[in-house]
Amino acid sequence: MNNRKEDSDSKNLIEISKKFDRVKVVYDCALKEITTKFEILNEDLRSSTNRTHIEFITGRIKTPESIIAKLKRRKMEISIDSSLENLTDIAGVRVICSFISDIYMIAEIFAKQDDIEIVQVKDYISHPKPSGYRSLHMIVKVPVFFATGTKKIVVEVQLRTIAMDFWATLEHQIYYKKDLIIDKSITNRLHACADKITDIDEEMEKIHKTIENL
Ligand code: GTP
Ligand code: MG
Repeated sequence: MNNRKEDSDSKNLIEISKKFDRVKVVYDCALKEITTKFEILNEDLRSSTNRTHIEFITGRIKTPESIIAKLKRRKMEISIDSSLENLTDIAGVRVICSFISDIYMIAEIFAKQDDIEIVQVKDYISHPKPSGYRSLHMIVKVPVFFATGTKKIVVEVQLRTIAMDFWATLEHQIYYKKDLIIDKSITNRLHACADKITDIDEEMEKIHKTIENL
């Protein structure tokens, strides 16, 4: 029984990996489009305000293993078509901003761009997740111009401060999705760290505003 399950798992992985090579090119191009938009915004804001609003930008394409795991978790059909239809985070861009207000300003300017279609916005800054996780998430569609025509590609954009990124990166390493049964005291301690980081983020922004208004 277990052998049969392993066979079907590896068959799924081989099948998806083969087809994914072509799909990956499409998502890579969408990542480039979105990353360039934020880079341009940052350049523009830097020249007009004399400071950096975006510290850095990263992008990633979900691996076939991770796609299969997510489809399985959601009890969805395991195929390329199903992943294209059901998953909105095959391509992901992370925009790490200096201050909390920069996140909202940049998100607003980005959302107004003619070719960007907003599919969904989740504000985990004003409404943090139970874990303490904070970020602004946007699911968007961006047109990519290929030789055969234009395709609208879905990309997940996560905007956060350096402090939010520090917490999320370490919490991810320590705990997130490890399927471990962990003592509530551990999640409470991680949440307490997230609260301290929020205080620091807010205080840094206040200091910044004070200096800016001098
Ligand atoms: P996923 O299945 O995790 O993609 O969740 P979702 O599709 O319901 O979307 P959601 O907006 O909740 O989260 C999407 C992404 O946000 C995740 O893939 C992570 O990158 C990040 N994220 C969400 N919750 C947490 C968390 O508690 N801790 C950390 N470190 N990251 C999180
Ligand atoms: Mg995800």
